[in-house]
Amino acid sequence: MIAMNKRILVTGRIPEEVMTILSNNYQVEANAEDKPFERQVLLQSIKDKEGLLSMITDIIDEEVLDKAFSLKMIAHFGVGYNNIDVKATTARGILVSNTPGVLTDATAELAFALILSISRRLVECDKITREGRFRYWAPMLFLGREVTGKTLGIIGLGEIGKAVARRAKGFDMRIIYHNRSRIDISEEKKLHAEYVTLKTLLMEADFVSLHVPLTEQTRHLIGGAELSLMKPTAYLINTSRGPVVDEQALFDALRNRKIGGAGLDVYENEPSLTPGLTELDNVILLPHIGSGTLETRIRMATMAAENLIAGLSGKVPPNLVNPEVLPKRRL
Ligand code: DGY
Repeated sequence: MIAMNKRILVTGRIPEEVMTILSNNYQVEANAEDKPFERQVLLQSIKDKEGLLSMITDIIDEEVLDKAFSLKMIAHFGVGYNNIDVKATTARGILVSNTPGVLTDATAELAFALILSISRRLVECDKITREGRFRYWAPMLFLGREVTGKTLGIIGLGEIGKAVARRAKGFDMRIIYHNRSRIDISEEKKLHAEYVTLKTLLMEADFVSLHVPLTEQTRHLIGGAELSLMKPTAYLINTSRGPVVDEQALFDALRNRKIGGAGLDVYENEPSLTPGLTELDNVILLPHIGSGTLETRIRMATMAAENLIAGLSGKVPPNLVNPEVLPKRRL
């Protein structure tokens, strides 16, 4: 049974229809604005809440958890939850869930949009046209590079990586991948994906697309050494997490034309960018919109709300990420 007296905190403005469900069931304190919830307010507001629906912009660390005396459940709005200290939440008996699956297609679409846009110089050409610099057609003007038939290197062949691979098949691409562990041979066959070492992938791919979660193992997975293995014509696409790439090293590689270009949706110190990055014409810069479609954001909010409701009614949330917490969960 859902208890109306339970208090929850929603730190981002989410679709109205999902907010209505939550307000019908709980006493809700919510961020009504399209900007991050302020840290000081979070530290204060969390004190009497049993549930938290969190955003990637909330750092949920020991300091927050030490104030969260009544907190039983964090339903994170997103698939990546590197902003939450899960070990610390588990130690306190707090459940954590995420929203896997529902943003796979939106993120894969964006990765593919970046692949096409950077190789065909769409953003640069749009700017040229708007500025009145499209004066005539000529055979060697505004040339990009073809995507069809090229080699796509996917680092992290999870759900999103696989969705990118399926789209690449439509462009007759050769697909190579590197993963913590190799996927089933039958699935490799279905995706036409070939398992290779990271080094081979970097040396052979025309497009390197990142789809790993941010962990201590993947932080700076792509640095100066890795970038120097890439072809001078190859493009790096990042729709995963910024710190997976050493952004200063990437900036140097782009500025010195060591690689063909990059399509970035995420940054090492988001929302700050490495100085000079915005001056380069061989990079496309997006404001972390991987899951940013209305359809997907409604699904993410619904899933987060369902997890929160399950967790706060003593059930096991469908997308629990720390099942080891169950024997000692706060009731
Ligand atoms: C995700 O779900 O991980 C998106 O990047 C939003 O945080």
